[in-house]
Amino acid sequence: MTDQPPREQWGTRLGFLLAAIGSAIGLGNIWRFPKVAFDNGGGSFLLPYLIALLTAGIPLLILEYTIGRKYRASPPAALRALYRPTQAIGWWQVAICFVIATYYAVILAWSLRYVGFSFTKAWGDDPNGYFFNDFLKAAEEPGTISAFVPGVAWPLILIWVVALVILGMGVRRGIERANKIFIPLLVVLFGVLVIRAVTLDGATTGLNALFQPDWGALTNGSVWVAAYGQIFFSLSIGFGIMITYASYLNRRSDLTGSAMVAGFANSSFEILAGIGVFATLGFMAAQAGVGVDDVVSGGVGLAFVAFPQIISEMWFGQAFGVLFFGSLVIAGLSSLISIVQVIVAAVEDRTGISRTRAVLVVGGATGVVSVALFSTDGGLYFLDAADHFINQYGIALAGLVLLVMVSWIARKLPMLQGNADATSAILLGRWWKLCLGVITPVVLGWMMIDSLINEFR
Ligand code: PHE
Ligand code: NA
Repeated sequence: MTDQPPREQWGTRLGFLLAAIGSAIGLGNIWRFPKVAFDNGGGSFLLPYLIALLTAGIPLLILEYTIGRKYRASPPAALRALYRPTQAIGWWQVAICFVIATYYAVILAWSLRYVGFSFTKAWGDDPNGYFFNDFLKAAEEPGTISAFVPGVAWPLILIWVVALVILGMGVRRGIERANKIFIPLLVVLFGVLVIRAVTLDGATTGLNALFQPDWGALTNGSVWVAAYGQIFFSLSIGFGIMITYASYLNRRSDLTGSAMVAGFANSSFEILAGIGVFATLGFMAAQAGVGVDDVVSGGVGLAFVAFPQIISEMWFGQAFGVLFFGSLVIAGLSSLISIVQVIVAAVEDRTGISRTRAVLVVGGATGVVSVALFSTDGGLYFLDAADHFINQYGIALAGLVLLVMVSWIARKLPMLQGNADATSAILLGRWWKLCLGVITPVVLGWMMIDSLINEFR
């Protein structure tokens, strides 16, 4: 551990910011947020959502940045240095990243495949049957080599190769450079998509359906749980990702400012995605002569069933399909890279092996597990199960235990506060401690209880 080369560093503050934003903006923004907002009060959801951003999202981002920059290590080592027993939480986060990486990549592979399918509208007039029967079942001849030949395996291998090559090139030359290309590209692709979407017939109906406020929803506890849950997943907090990325910062970078920029950039993209998706769903409803409520979906159903149908119905839908699935691939790839980086860095810090080796061995192993599990029989089932577990318990548990230990048992918040840069220390006052020591732990505890109750009902 003594004669290690100096830790890598981001080239510029902008590079770090873009990487943090790249991690945040992902599938969660495009296919999760619009439906969550719609289901939880529409326009009025923006209020709990904003409160969650200000009381949990940004304070936790600052916490993770501060820990990463101060200890210059990945989650297990950084948390160990902060307060020994929290090391276990660091490894738990690494484990969560491993699970997420294995299935997140699969969705990217599907999206990549659907970029190609968009050109020919391969799903014909039955997108639903095509996705669940032809496309996925083709990979489900258990135990046969044919499971590897069709749809899923090759694009998945390709996604892994690209992600690992970028990681192998290092923090500055790989991750930072890739994000400097990905983010502007994503903004352009998705921007064009949204402009096209809002000019479709029926777009206004869709937007009205999304933004129509239901103020009564604010008295419903599960709406608040949904708002905090969305913020955690969407900002990639509680996974140790931001600890890892911040460990490559130099000592004099403005953390509070970066957290605000990253937080608001992610939320802006999220709202933009809500507009794009609901304008498009409005078009779909108008074509079918039904209400918007009848066509709303999220996740797999939105991307691989509803959008293909819309693409088929739209004039020059091919281009729309390429924009949509291309956006999913690019947004997701920068998130995937950040997840795998946590695992790679944790092993690097722990064993002292080189980055290249760590990427090959650890990243490679993650990729192999991903390909083995998800391009064969039952992939969709694993995916649902993993996603459910992570969203309901994985993140909240890690966040809750960490905050209680750091703020109450070890009382380390004041020390971290003292470690913030002078320019932003002013913002880390009582409010910050109140958020991290009281508000967020209470909400997280409540989220856990809420999930457990729902599980056994
Ligand atoms: N924040 C990403 C999104 O919105 C998802 C993600 C979760 C990325 C966890 C990395 C780690 O899709
Ligand atoms: Na996000």
